[in-house]
Formats: sequence, structure tokens, C-alpha cells
Amino acid sequence: MRVAVSGSTGFLGTALCASLAADGHELVRLVRRPAAAPDEAEWDPEKGIVPLARLADVEAVVHLGGANVGARRWTRRYKQLLHHSRVRSTAVLAAALTGLATRPRVFVSGSASGFYGPDRGHDFLDEDDLPGDGFLARLSQDWEQAAAPARAADIAVCHPRFGTVMGPGGGALGPMLPLFRLGLGGAFGDGEQFWSPVSLHDAVRALRFMIEEHGCVGPYNVTAPEPVSNGEFTRLLAAELRRPRLLPVPGFALRIAVGEAAGELLGSLRILPTRLTEAGFTFDHPDARSIIAAAVRG
Ligand SMILES: NC(=O)c1ccc[n+]([C@@H]2O[C@H](COP(=O)([O-])OP(=O)(O)OC[C@H]3O[C@@H](n4cnc5c(N)ncnc54)[C@H](OP(=O)(O)O)[C@@H]3O)[C@@H](O)[C@H]2O)c1
Repeated sequence: MRVAVSGSTGFLGTALCASLAADGHELVRLVRRPAAAPDEAEWDPEKGIVPLARLADVEAVVHLGGANVGARRWTRRYKQLLHHSRVRSTAVLAAALTGLATRPRVFVSGSASGFYGPDRGHDFLDEDDLPGDGFLARLSQDWEQAAAPARAADIAVCHPRFGTVMGPGGGALGPMLPLFRLGLGGAFGDGEQFWSPVSLHDAVRALRFMIEEHGCVGPYNVTAPEPVSNGEFTRLLAAELRRPRLLPVPGFALRIAVGEAAGELLGSLRILPTRLTEAGFTFDHPDARSIIAAAVRG
């Protein structure tokens, strides 16, 4: 299969491309700089430039681009970049796909579990639930909506609403591991809030499921089927690293350290991957213990 991937240099994109290439699929990596390899094609979402000739005959397009949510403090300006880099690039790509002589069968366009919230308490959430409030919820709605031109052109548009993706070499565990290895890690706030993590391995498998299983369309929560409280998560992580778990990090300290993004760490999202499960997808890492082991042991 010929598959185009944007954001292919990122945490998820790198792993997805490696998985597809290992199985002999043909890749077109959309990069925001001059192409430096035969499988790369330059695009410029800001200027609306998409290399249509390189997208001829692609069966699937996966859009994973966007400025990194955890890289910087959420100033007003950085929030604008987080929003714009996702919504603009999605709109540009979706519109371009409609102009291809042969349109792709499926467009997998990124989204996030932040769609539901920052905080929905201990209620279970699935794809039928309404969006929440706050910056990431509005961003995720606009981001999904930006793919409308592709939907209108009868391309099957899938939105993976990724939970916290954890894997070797980066992702959400990246900043936490050094602290825990030094024995400095603790729960965030009271630790009662639910987290909905997913292993990098299963996130890639879920993306491939959306590409390869004909008939996938709409939003899919890409979160392991057993959400976990933050307190339990940090207990399991400390145990895996054979380090003591220290006192909780108070909410006010987190707010001072990371600003508005602390709301995402202190809020509770107990998300179920209902649509993936109903479609027949099974998780190799269904719970926090197996996700942590896969991330820490590589
Ligand atoms: N990892 C998670 O836990 C998680 C959770 C929820 C949602 N997601 C979403 O899934 C997608 C992929 O996540 P990831 O962890 O792989 O992200 P990542 O490591 O930050 O990679 C994102 C990629 O987007 C491109 N990019 C960076 N800045 C950009 C900008 N200003 N405009 C357009 N593109 C830009 C870059 O690729 P190029 O330089 O090659 O263009 C970058 O490698 C993101 O949209 C992210 O929001 C991830």
C-alpha cells in the first residue's frame, strides 16, 4: 500500500513509518523542509503548498503534524501556534486531497483525548460523549472539523483521539522518567484523577488498523481499555524502576512549574476505546502495568 504521512519525524510518526516500512509499504513522508530522501516530499502547510504529484495513487494519508503540546509553556502566543499548526495544516491537506484524480480511500487525521476535557471526574467516556471545555477541547474540535473537505469528498476520515502515548525514547514518560529514576517522582495533586494512557506500540497498531481495515470512519479513542488513577500509575512506575515513590506534587506547585497545562495533569479523564474494541481491535498493552513495562524496558 502507498501511504503518505505528515509529522513523520515526530514521536508517533517515526514509529508509524518504521512499522509500515518494515512490512514493505511504500511511504511518502510530507516534510516541512526540502526533501532529503527519495521517500520525502516537501510541503508547506503555512503557504498551502502540497506536492499533489507525489500524492498520486496513495491509498491512505495520515496527518500527525502540529507544534508539540508539551514542549513549551502555554503562553497566549504558543497556544495560537498549537491551534494554528494543527487546524491550518489539516484544512490545507484535506482540501488538497479532494483535488486528486484518484482520491485516497482513507484520511487519518490526528486528534486528542483532550477533546473530552480537562476534567470529567470518574465517569467513563467514549466516542458518544460530548466534547468538554477548555483550550485542548476547543482545539481538538476545530482540528477534527478542519478535515471536513475530505469528508465531503467521500474520503473515509478517521480521527484517532490519542490518550497519553507512552513508549521508549520519548512521549509523556520522557520528562517523568529521570525524576523517578532519581527517586523524586510522586503523584500529581491528590492522585485520584484518572489518566488514559496508551503504549506507543498500540497507538501505532491502532493507526494501522484504521488504515488497513476497510470501513473505519469517524472518531476512535486511542487509549488502553483500563484507565488508571494517577496515584496508581505513579506507584506502578516507581515499582517498575525500583525506586521509592515520594510525596505527591501539590497542584499549586504544578501550576507554578508548567502553568495552564497543569490542568491537563490534574484533571481526570477516564476514557474507553469503545469504537476500536467494537471494531475488533485488541490491545497488546491493555493496562498501566504493561504500558509502563513496555516503555521502560523498551
Ligand atoms: N504523543 C502523545 O501523547 C499525543 C497525545 C495526544 C495527541 N497527540 C497528537 O498526535 C500528533 C503526533 O504526536 P507526536 O507525539 O508524534 O508529536 P511530535 O513528536 O511533537 O511530532 C509532531 C510533528 O509535527 C510536525 N510539526 C512540528 N511543529 C509543527 C508546526 N508548527 N506546524 C506543522 N507541523 C509541525 C513535526 O514534523 P515535521 O517537521 O516533519 O513536519 C513534528 O515531528 C500530534 O498532533 C499530537 O498533538 C499526541
